[in-house]
Amino acid sequence: MVKNIISIVGLGKLGASMAAAIADRGFPVIGVDVSKNAIDNLNAGKAPVEETNLQEYIDKNRSRLSATFSHHDAVLNSEITFVIVPTPSDEKGAFSIKYAASAFRAIGQALKDKEEYHTIVLTSTVLPGATRFGLLPILERESGKTCGKDFGLCYSPEFIALGSVIHDFLNPDFLLVGEYDTKSGDILERYYSKIMENNPPCKRMSIENAELAKISLNSYVTMKITFANILTELCEKIPGGDIDVVTDAIGLDKRIGRKYLTGGLGFGGPCFPRDNVALSYLASSLGVRNEIAEATDRFNRSIPERFANRLKQLIRPNSTVAILGLSYKPFSCVVEESQGIFLAKALSMHNHIVVGFDPLANKMAKIALKDDIQIKNSVKDCLDQADVVLITTPDPAFAALKLKDFQNGKPEVLVVDFWRVLNKELSGKPGVRYIPVGHGDEITVTKNTLETMWEDNVRL
Ligand SMILES: NC(=O)c1ccc[n+]([C@@H]2O[C@H](COP(=O)([O-])OP(=O)(O)OC[C@H]3O[C@@H](n4cnc5c(N)ncnc54)[C@H](O)[C@@H]3O)[C@@H](O)[C@H]2O)c1
Repeated sequence: MVKNIISIVGLGKLGASMAAAIADRGFPVIGVDVSKNAIDNLNAGKAPVEETNLQEYIDKNRSRLSATFSHHDAVLNSEITFVIVPTPSDEKGAFSIKYAASAFRAIGQALKDKEEYHTIVLTSTVLPGATRFGLLPILERESGKTCGKDFGLCYSPEFIALGSVIHDFLNPDFLLVGEYDTKSGDILERYYSKIMENNPPCKRMSIENAELAKISLNSYVTMKITFANILTELCEKIPGGDIDVVTDAIGLDKRIGRKYLTGGLGFGGPCFPRDNVALSYLASSLGVRNEIAEATDRFNRSIPERFANRLKQLIRPNSTVAILGLSYKPFSCVVEESQGIFLAKALSMHNHIVVGFDPLANKMAKIALKDDIQIKNSVKDCLDQADVVLITTPDPAFAALKLKDFQNGKPEVLVVDFWRVLNKELSGKPGVRYIPVGHGDEITVTKNTLETMWEDNVRL
């Protein structure tokens, strides 16, 4: 009777989009949350969170979407339950499973009253061991039932980016299925084969291998971003250095690839930084050396303060610095671990007047930065009074700016463009001093250093 009905526990940034995407593929979806707001919104046909196309997907699929506080009703009226609740980082850098444990308790109590077999899939990011040793015992204790006989269990995280969650969920590069047993994995793979739009390969494995694969993938990507950022700094010290020339070339090598290899500012957001820290924690707990993840994290966190120090040599104290881009990436209102936010804090500590604007993240930035920044209503309001402009995200709104937008009556405005989106428009133009980050144009000092490195050879 409940065949092909899916329940989703946690209607947040990932869960709400998954619910709408799955409904769009024809499955009835019952959403569960502890937040009245999330439930009322979904039941009223409103997106509980901001996400690209989410409202359209909800509009199209209202008849297949419902939401409830009751884990019990959701489990009894569905065949499979995805759990996508927060797993915040704790003080050691590990992922806390307290919200997942609470959800699993409620699901376990519902399983006690369910006669049919049910499958539970944990989607939240957790560390190896958390599903089998932290959460499965809760299900068995609360239900009085046995995993593998009465119910199935998988760990199956998604690889999505905020701003393209629905597209990424429906079109993944691959599916990662950690299965308690073959039956659990078969059921999940069958669902995925009907939900995904691009027929992706499905990698099935033990739950612990899948838990490790999820965080190691994110950690690898951040290592790649950081490598590009180190090359960016090297390019600035080399006569004629150009980060894009270098990464465009090495990105052609199939072993490397061009994605996530653009030098600019560091990575941020709710996943990348914490997954790296968690992998370091896991390694040290298991007595494994993992200097790579630690160094990646250290380098990334050092960027804003090092930049603030560098800026000290270029501008007077008390200058007005405008930051264009406060979210951690374009098209996002999320400011968690955003480099724009960290820069604003660092520059405010260095006694500059900081003003800022972001197309979507102004409200969240105001909460995060309080008195460290004056949030402006438009790019123009920001640029009007700026001595220095920092372009911290490659947002198309910033890439479309023209020279005249920067000419505010001051003799010279310093523009630091971390993503080089205005290179053509501003390079060598009057009234601005344009610094495209990752270009080695002003290199007198370094050129001398490079020359002395080779003078012994020249003398021979
Ligand atoms: N957001 C991302 O980009 C992303 C990407 C990949 C993985 N993840 C992982 O997915 C998980 C969820 O992330 P998110 O960003 O969607 O979180 P979120 O905070 O946006 O949403 C979580 C939702 O779960 C609800 N919730 C909490 N406890 C609950 C319970 N016991 N029962 C029912 N609902 C409950 C909350 O009210 C909230 O609506 C995390 O583990 C995260 O690491 C997130």
